[in-house]
Amino acid sequence: MLKGFGKDFLFGVATSAYQIEGGNHNDWTEWESKAQTKKRGKLTRCEKATDHWTRHKEDFLLLKDLGVNAYRFSTEWSRIEPRPDQWNEDALQTYLEMAKLLNDLRIEPIVTLHHFTNPLWLYQNSPWEIQKSIERFTKYADKVISVLSPYVRYWISFNEPIVFLLGGYVDGSMPPGKKDVKLSFEVLKNMLLAHQEVFHIVRHHCGAKGQLSVAHNMMDIRPASTLSPFDHWLAAYVDQFYNWMLVDAFATGELDFRIPTAVKKKVRLNLSDAITFWGVNYYSRLFMRFAPFKPLRFTFHYRNASKNGLTDMGWEIYPEGLEHILKKIHSKLNLPVIVTENGIADQEDNRRLKFIADHLKVLRSCSSTVPIKGYFYWSFLDNFEWLHGFGPRFGLYRVDYRTYERTKRGSADFFRCLAKGEIEICS
Ligand code: FCB
Repeated sequence: MLKGFGKDFLFGVATSAYQIEGGNHNDWTEWESKAQTKKRGKLTRCEKATDHWTRHKEDFLLLKDLGVNAYRFSTEWSRIEPRPDQWNEDALQTYLEMAKLLNDLRIEPIVTLHHFTNPLWLYQNSPWEIQKSIERFTKYADKVISVLSPYVRYWISFNEPIVFLLGGYVDGSMPPGKKDVKLSFEVLKNMLLAHQEVFHIVRHHCGAKGQLSVAHNMMDIRPASTLSPFDHWLAAYVDQFYNWMLVDAFATGELDFRIPTAVKKKVRLNLSDAITFWGVNYYSRLFMRFAPFKPLRFTFHYRNASKNGLTDMGWEIYPEGLEHILKKIHSKLNLPVIVTENGIADQEDNRRLKFIADHLKVLRSCSSTVPIKGYFYWSFLDNFEWLHGFGPRFGLYRVDYRTYERTKRGSADFFRCLAKGEIEICS
């Protein structure tokens, strides 16, 4: 048990299906092959990923060895429902077996239903921008939750809806690769309406013990120049859009969606009771610069302003940002908070230990005012890092992509000592 955080604190690691399982075929698989043929970027294909689908039993023993009491993973929609209304019962049984196994190992499963990927057929008849997507997702969610609910209490409907929206519908860097800000509003609205349905499904199958949230990517967002009023305005705008629009939608029931000169929409959604905790994925701080001659009229960058250094992704290590975010979440939502992702790409494994310790220090010092109920390190294993392929190494376990052998990193031993209560993090 992690010392100093209460006996029910969830201390674990996180993954997602597409990034580790292997053998999936969805919108990302197509995206990778198109990006290859068009030579738009040197993308690796995910294909076997870490081969977790066939190795999950052995992997779960590694989890046990890590001493964690919780594990966040996702179910792959395209595997479970390869064609509309056709269910792959074997896949569902494997996920059920995973959930049971975790229960046997006394590891609390937290299941994410949507972690960026979509079945290809979704785009043919009911993409996220049309209302029918709500019904499609709801059917899938109902199937998964009805099967897994005897073993799973904690659910996450969507991982990082704003990242999905910006990548898939604004800058077009992720599938479906559209660039249409008006559509992006419809997408978010439909996802939130789908979330609401998921809430009823969770209540139906899990009763009062069911827990539900989204996992929202939040960053510390600052002006590039403190002297520029334009940068200040821009940072405040992006902070509201990227970080707080979603929190406010759940806090007030109103989605207030604004993209200057393009979209200004306000819609009332019945969301205020549709979550039982708040999931935050926190990694870094971003600086915003007003740049009127650039296509987007602004640029953004990471910078080593705190002198804590940059990760292998080039992201600034900035634990203090998590403190600002946690306190502000608490001022808006009176709910428990779980850090559903926090991690570092660190090939050499010489900054990971301090990274984890420093973020836990922040949690410890905030925990007197904010009800923090869990922390999940990203990631359990090295895995397929979306647009960056297999390069970045986020894992507590190293994966050899030729043999799929897993090797424990030094930081995993540290994590284990924390999990076992052999070391205490003080604020
Ligand atoms: C998050 C994603 C996760 C992983 C980490 C590094 O934004 O949710 O899948 O890629 O970044």
